[in-house]
Amino acid sequence: MSTERTLVLVKPDGVQRGLIGQVLSRLERRGLKLIGLKLMQMDEALANQHYAEHVEKPFFPGLRDFITSGPLVAAAFEGANAVQLVRNTMGATNPLDATPGSIRADFGVDLGRNVIHGSDSPESGERELALFFESSELVSWDRDVEGWIYE
Ligand code: RTP
Ligand code: MG
Repeated sequence: MSTERTLVLVKPDGVQRGLIGQVLSRLERRGLKLIGLKLMQMDEALANQHYAEHVEKPFFPGLRDFITSGPLVAAAFEGANAVQLVRNTMGATNPLDATPGSIRADFGVDLGRNVIHGSDSPESGERELALFFESSELVSWDRDVEGWIYE
């Protein structure tokens, strides 16, 4: 069982709609350990780096305008299989296809306003965390309830 780290963003739509607490709460209560947290606004340069795989795609200008349009919350979570746990809790990219009970299904209706980002692999997690956090901003801490979350 490998410990992974993953970047979560509560996107500008989630911040504007007052969903920060509810989104983070769902990940926290699942058992993921928070190791970094900040409110910030992405600029174009960071958007280009973060979404490097999409820069040439036709939807990218709209995605970049949206993701830089207002404040977002960046959170770092750590845990065994953290990447897949977050992705499953988020739901499918398009809220229309997301399973009810997932964040994107419960809080969204539109592909371009899907409330949350989560890294898509452990490698992406490390790459993205380095874009959003200084290493000194990530906190290593022991959680007393660990034995009640993992056997
Ligand atoms: P994210 O990176 O934001 O967590 O989303 P994801 O992995 O589920 O999806 P990804 O393929 O990485 O796409 C990034 C974001 O771009 C928007 N998108 N629009 N119009 C389109 O065809 C299209 N495809 C993707 C979505 O808002 C998606 O979250
Ligand atoms: Mg993605």
